[in-house]
Amino acid sequence: MPIEVESPEQLGYDTITNNLSESSVADRRLSDLGLGLERGDRATTALDDLLLGYGDHLGDPVLRDAVAAAADGVRANDVLVTPGAAAALFATATSVLEPGDHAVVVRTNYATNLETPRAIGADLDVVDLSFDDGWRLDVERVAKLVRSGETRLISVTCPHNPTGTLLDLAALHALVELAESSGAVLLVDETYRDLTHGTPLPMAATLSSRAISVSSMSKAYGLPGLRVGWAVCRDERLAETLLAAKEQIVICGATIDEAIAGRVLVDRDRILPTILQEVRARLDIVRTWLAGQDTFEWIEPAGGVVGLVRFRPDVDVDTARFYEVLLAGYGTYVGPGHWFEVDDRHFRLGFGWPTEAELRAGLTALSNAAADARS
Ligand SMILES: Cc1ncc(COP(=O)(O)O)c(C=O)c1O
Repeated sequence: MPIEVESPEQLGYDTITNNLSESSVADRRLSDLGLGLERGDRATTALDDLLLGYGDHLGDPVLRDAVAAAADGVRANDVLVTPGAAAALFATATSVLEPGDHAVVVRTNYATNLETPRAIGADLDVVDLSFDDGWRLDVERVAKLVRSGETRLISVTCPHNPTGTLLDLAALHALVELAESSGAVLLVDETYRDLTHGTPLPMAATLSSRAISVSSMSKAYGLPGLRVGWAVCRDERLAETLLAAKEQIVICGATIDEAIAGRVLVDRDRILPTILQEVRARLDIVRTWLAGQDTFEWIEPAGGVVGLVRFRPDVDVDTARFYEVLLAGYGTYVGPGHWFEVDDRHFRLGFGWPTEAELRAGLTALSNAAADARS
């Protein structure tokens, strides 16, 4: 997939000055978190003391408790910890779908949500979102595609990557009803839910046992290197299948990663507000930049740290030259549209990962590269 081949970690972080292509908040060090887990800090809880045996196959109980505590009606045993949300999405698709099974997936989307059903050989119907509709999902379009008793999976992401838009509550309820009435599983990739700028939607899995909610430590907490995510599922049989899928891939998660993630989530009320405040300040910077120019436009994200910017329709630009000049001439990197199966007049702008100075420099670079590449 282009998003993997061209990712900044594969390209080399040292080749980019202003990295506006990332989809999380800034990566954190263990010492940034103030957990006292570092060597020698507190003997009884230091990581040195951790027994590195195989762990609970569902995942660290403290971590599962912390996930469940934040969601009404969810028990720790409804939570399956996985190596990142990516593995939870993979386990869900491979547990629910067989070759030829019908699935409805929204696009644009996080690539795995499209690629895994395709790799399985599912019979895929794609619902394309569009800028001109404000990237809003019209649930009626999904409903028209769903075949009662036949569709196995309905898959959406909210808050959305790469647009940062949100379903409204009525749309989420309508999707839940659709899954329940048709017998499909509703997969909601909620990896950005903790970064919602207004009131977060309920975790989908709290609304129905037909819904699976997926999230992780990567985006909101800046800890993608922990490789800790989870799927929440209240349907016992489905949850058992997800566990079996995980056991066949990894047996259990990394004890050390899950111990750290559990401590972070227990401390979420101390850690998250500062992150959210920073993210909203960054969003302000992008908003101000967009208001002061007439080359680019976006639908302002309602959650997360990414938005899908596009060249205004009246701007005549050589996009290949734009991306080339942007990186080679200005050291600035964004996620081009083809990463998300849309044309390269769109790009994903990540505003939560770079420093404020890098973000400001990167935005100026975008304006300059666009001027250089105008035909
Ligand atoms: C919407 C979404 N879901 C899932 C993932 C996977 O994240 P991770 O496996 O690091 O938790 C990403 C990463 O970009 C994402 O944007």
